[in-house]
Amino acid sequence: MSLILGIETSCDECSASVLLHERKAGVDHFLPLSVSTYTQIELHQPFGGVVPEVASRNHLEQVQPVILDALTKAKVEVEDVDAIAVTNRPGLIGALLVGVTAAKALAYATNKPLVPVHHLEGHLMSAFIGNPNIQFPAVFLMVSGGHTHIHYIEEPPMSWKRDVLKQSLFGRSIDDAAGEAFDKTAKILGFPYPGGKWIDENAKGGDPKAFDLPRGLKNKDSLDFSFSGLKTAVMLQYQTLEKLGKTEEMKKDLCASLQEAILDPLIKKTIRLAKDKRAKTIVIVGGVAANSRLRERFASESPVPVFYPDLKYCTDNAAMIAAAGAVRFAQGAGLSAQDYLTLNAFAIAES
Ligand code: KG4
Ligand code: ZN
Repeated sequence: MSLILGIETSCDECSASVLLHERKAGVDHFLPLSVSTYTQIELHQPFGGVVPEVASRNHLEQVQPVILDALTKAKVEVEDVDAIAVTNRPGLIGALLVGVTAAKALAYATNKPLVPVHHLEGHLMSAFIGNPNIQFPAVFLMVSGGHTHIHYIEEPPMSWKRDVLKQSLFGRSIDDAAGEAFDKTAKILGFPYPGGKWIDENAKGGDPKAFDLPRGLKNKDSLDFSFSGLKTAVMLQYQTLEKLGKTEEMKKDLCASLQEAILDPLIKKTIRLAKDKRAKTIVIVGGVAANSRLRERFASESPVPVFYPDLKYCTDNAAMIAAAGAVRFAQGAGLSAQDYLTLNAFAIAES
């Protein structure tokens, strides 16, 4: 059993969490005792997207209050934790550096081991918080604001090697991520950032077949995605509707149609890989996993049980970072001061 303090500052959420990790009968159980998140969404909204420097500066103001809040809510002192886990890749470099520096300072001052965590491993792990019995082999669909990946993973987290993300990757977006496609098309339609939830809400009651929008990389064999063509098609369609004065009248239909164009390839390719590999489960993680139509369609189309993280663990949060850190810590990946004092942050996933 171990108590982990997780810290996440890779993008526009400044988050800390205290999480209890227990391994019972060979199964990992994660119990978040607290999650404290300061979201910068309102700060970036006027710009229509995340402004990296604004993000870094705000993390610098929020990171210590957020950590203190997480410890207070969990009713533990920092001395009580067994290790500190921090996202050190991938993400906005200035934003990552704030979290990594805060974690290093705290680990050094309290003489605790530090566990560097890959943000995407955190997203994969988010599904296990509250769902300890996910069966393997499993197909994971990771759909966030920055990434769209399909992974096929044969073993539970305790057996994951260091390069699990790379070795299990079967498909990815070659341009925009699914969340980015939601956000960019939502911006064209005049919705605030981040637009995914607005498209989701406004698509309800709309006709998903009203507009014939492109599905990228329809090629049967490819498990990759492409969403950049959709963005252009939506823009042209919206301009036509503007000329006809019909943007309001057709808004629901356009939202439903573009949502279907994003979801179609995600759902079809995930289910195809699950069938090909005879996976026992499908696991959907990342911000877009909150989409209600995606959940409705997987529920009716998937041949195997589908698992999701609780909604609060779909978007960026430190509980998933603490969970990923806990598993790596149990594997012996905790660094001592000698090693973590020179630990760096990396903007790209492959570092
Ligand atoms: O996982 P996340 O916090 O981002 C990254 O780590 O990059 O997810 C944020 C993304 C945004 O693109 C947002 O629009 C999308 O998740 N999102 C949704 C919904 N809720 C959030 N997309 C579609 N439907 C939703 N209900
Ligand atoms: Zn994320």
